[in-house]
Amino acid sequence: MEYTIAVLAGDGVGPEVVAEGLKVLDAVGARYGHRFSRREALIGGIAIDTTGLPLPAETIEVCRQSNAVLLGAVGGPKWDDPNAPVRPEQGLLGLRKALGLFANLRPVTVHPVLAGASPLRPERLEGVDLLVVRELTGGIYFGEKRRDRNEAGEWASDLCIYSEAEIVRVVRIAAELARSRNGRLTLVDKANVLETSRLWRSVASRLVRDTYPDLAFEYLLVDTCAMDLLRRPGHFDVIVTENMFGDILTDEAAMLVGSMGTLPSASLGEGGVGLYEPIHGSAPDIAGQGRANPLATILSVALMLRHSLGLAHEAAAVESAVSAVLEAGIVTGDIAQPGQRARSTAEVGDAVAARV
Ligand code: IPM
Ligand code: MG
Repeated sequence: MEYTIAVLAGDGVGPEVVAEGLKVLDAVGARYGHRFSRREALIGGIAIDTTGLPLPAETIEVCRQSNAVLLGAVGGPKWDDPNAPVRPEQGLLGLRKALGLFANLRPVTVHPVLAGASPLRPERLEGVDLLVVRELTGGIYFGEKRRDRNEAGEWASDLCIYSEAEIVRVVRIAAELARSRNGRLTLVDKANVLETSRLWRSVASRLVRDTYPDLAFEYLLVDTCAMDLLRRPGHFDVIVTENMFGDILTDEAAMLVGSMGTLPSASLGEGGVGLYEPIHGSAPDIAGQGRANPLATILSVALMLRHSLGLAHEAAAVESAVSAVLEAGIVTGDIAQPGQRARSTAEVGDAVAARV
């Protein structure tokens, strides 16, 4: 089969890690007889520098015409002024919205050989295999923003708004995924304070009761969840939550692994094209040095094979190759254990590609 992949390398370490993801994709193509053609497009800071816009219309077009999108990272000190009229992050938020990618899947597993890289004691990490499903196109990140001034000085507001339909569609995806995994679904909210959370809780409870009664369903306040992710991370299977809580909790959950460098993500909508990106950012401090960990991007390629291209077997082959490389101790500095030599971004990518 032939597939078209939109490649949005972006800023900082984005181009370096995306190059390794594509290397592994080509290895999959050679091994299993698929053709992956690519179309590159601009996003983020580099798009601002080239076109004046963080998300040129052409980029959205290229993505829409592709089977899937592979993205590196956006942002960097050059464009960091939060008051600037155009910022790289607008490119990413805009693309998620334009492609209707309302469900963001962020799986977190701790490979045994990496237990030493985590700040948590190894015994706490036993059985950690969780998936956060973050609502991605609604809530406070997309609600109306205002800034004004009155007698008392400046004021600002961000509106958090969710509709029943927005909640149902993402909880449905989370519930289906829980069914295919260990059958536990945790809704995270702040229903003791927020009206939007109370709506989430009633809509999700009803949906699960009527359609997914086989699941072990629970809800948890977001502050308690923040604690439980450290206290008993092995308890969780699928967590579903609103945009901002998901943003915050997934950075916390990444620390179970000790590095953001190995964690992939998939952003899905109703059918259509999916977007795959590492959950780490552009890491400007190490950009261009060949030190970035490419595994998060390579594992994002695995998610792409599985969720957008229907190539589950090939996805599993990439994941096994990554495990084999970790077991062989071929790792970048962020996850190197005492006594292990830190390998370059390209060395790690080569090692995975060779094992596909
Ligand atoms: C993420 C990032 C983005 C987000 C930023 C860059 C807008 O933090 O993907 O988690 O908040 O969604
Ligand atoms: Mg984030």
